[in-house]
Amino acid sequence: MRSVRRRLALPAIALSVLAVGCAVTERAMPEDADTPRWTSRAIPEARGDFRVLPDGRRAAIRYKGWTPADFGAFRTYAYDDARPEPAVLGATIPAGLSGDATKGRVLFLDRAKGPCTGCHLVPGDDVWPAGSVGPDLSTIGDRRLPDPYLYQLLWDPRVVYPNTAMPPWGATGVLTPEELVHLVAYLQTLRAPLPPERDADRNPFTRKTPVGFGDGLDPTNNPAVLLAEDAQAQWEEKGPAGRACADCHPGGAERAMRGVATRYPKHLKAYGRVMSLEDFLEAHGPETTGRPYAAESADNLTMTMLVKMASNGLPVTLDTASPEARAAIARGRATFAKRVGQRNHSCADCHTRDGGAGKFLGGRLLADARDGLTRHLPTWRTSQGEVWDLRKRVQWCMTPLGTNMLAADAVEYAELELYLTTFDDGKPLRVPGIRH
Ligand code: HEC
Ligand code: HEC
Ligand code: HEC
Repeated sequence: MRSVRRRLALPAIALSVLAVGCAVTERAMPEDADTPRWTSRAIPEARGDFRVLPDGRRAAIRYKGWTPADFGAFRTYAYDDARPEPAVLGATIPAGLSGDATKGRVLFLDRAKGPCTGCHLVPGDDVWPAGSVGPDLSTIGDRRLPDPYLYQLLWDPRVVYPNTAMPPWGATGVLTPEELVHLVAYLQTLRAPLPPERDADRNPFTRKTPVGFGDGLDPTNNPAVLLAEDAQAQWEEKGPAGRACADCHPGGAERAMRGVATRYPKHLKAYGRVMSLEDFLEAHGPETTGRPYAAESADNLTMTMLVKMASNGLPVTLDTASPEARAAIARGRATFAKRVGQRNHSCADCHTRDGGAGKFLGGRLLADARDGLTRHLPTWRTSQGEVWDLRKRVQWCMTPLGTNMLAADAVEYAELELYLTTFDDGKPLRVPGIRH
């Protein structure tokens, strides 16, 4: 059960230089800014650290199978990263380049670039699964849009659609001018009549809504339940400091921890910051038992599940009223809307109705943050064969989009998690979940 499989294959995203424009500075320092910055206690691959290669470049230390690419040219979620999002850039189609529609189609499908098919439907049995975050482009050529307009739209769609979820492909260098010219040529070939549709699942507008993976609390269905039961033994086991959790929290985890998880994430005076249960355990565990509970370690995740399971069925009851909580929620909300990385994406692009929520990104139906995405976490991920908490999910959502991740236990993520959890306030906890 513990021998977990990792089947990740993230495309390495092309790196490029970013032209940073106007100097709008937006700073959002936590109010406990006088307290020393949090030093990560996460496992090494979850810290967002780098090592320097012999040729002087930096390689990111990330989870096994994740890209080591350094996206340092692009802004991150760090509160002290004061860079603005890339300036909105007008662009003119370069003279002297002729577009090749065949090359354009290859680029449209290229998973290491867009893929454009992640958000747009176009004809072809090899286009699978297409997404619907953006409009169906199957017949865009019929609209006779001028090439310079399409070129501009691909270079930086914010010129036309200021709040678009579509990345500025040219402005941040994901695609070169020449590649964009090929894409424009391809788009112009997309004309009616369409070939007959052979597979209703290919088309995100006719695809069936995916079904879930069954009952997460059923141990025969969700391997994470068995892992959490292993943490039960650890609860009783004395750590190097000579104490077990059970010594100070008598009555068994289920009774001693009942209701505790419903109040997290919360601001803890002792640490001067907002903490999820994972964050708290990585500090409290070693302080009391001498045993490490590094963020993203198996011990941390399983103990977190054990503590949360003691609150299953109880409603989330966050502190949303104290001054600390209100300030942190406001910062978390700003992070949710902040565009970061090479793709210049925000969480809101994919997880609100104004963005992609309720639509397909490739084959994945995007969830709406306002429906509450937190109360089943940590969750078993069937596609990874692993237990993941919210932090790893956030790191995962943004890394392939060209953003250097922060440490899993970063304050920025804690406050983002607190904001996300407000949408689950009053709803019952149900840990562990089971998801794709
Ligand atoms: C993350 C999702 C996403 C990806 C990936 C994406 N787009 Fe878009 N695209 C959109 C959205 C959303 C719109 C609609 C504009 C708006 O209202 O924000 C759009 C609009 C367009 C339009 C204009 C359609 C119209 O009706 O005017 C074209 C053309 C287009 N995209 C081409 C592309 C190409 C080519 C790629 C790949 C290089 C691509 N898109 C990748 C989300 C995406
Ligand atoms: C030396 C005694 C001691 C040990 C050992 C200990 N704890 Fe605690 N723990 C405390 C005290 C004291 C508090 C604060 C009590 C309170 O909430 O007022 C606390 C608080 C907690 C809380 C937060 C409660 C809340 O309401 O926010 C959790 C969760 C927790 N402990 C889990 C654990 C786990 C898991 C272990 C084993 C890895 C452990 N503790 C080991 C003494 C201990
Ligand atoms: C380009 C799109 C994209 C962006 C941007 C994005 N995500 Fe996701 N996210 C996904 C996809 C795809 C899934 C899987 C389908 C789903 O559950 O929505 C997902 C799932 C999730 C889940 C659900 C996990 C679960 O177990 O059900 C959470 C929570 C989440 N994302 C948080 C975030 C946060 C927070 C951000 C911003 C830091 C973010 N995402 C940015 C695409 C995105």
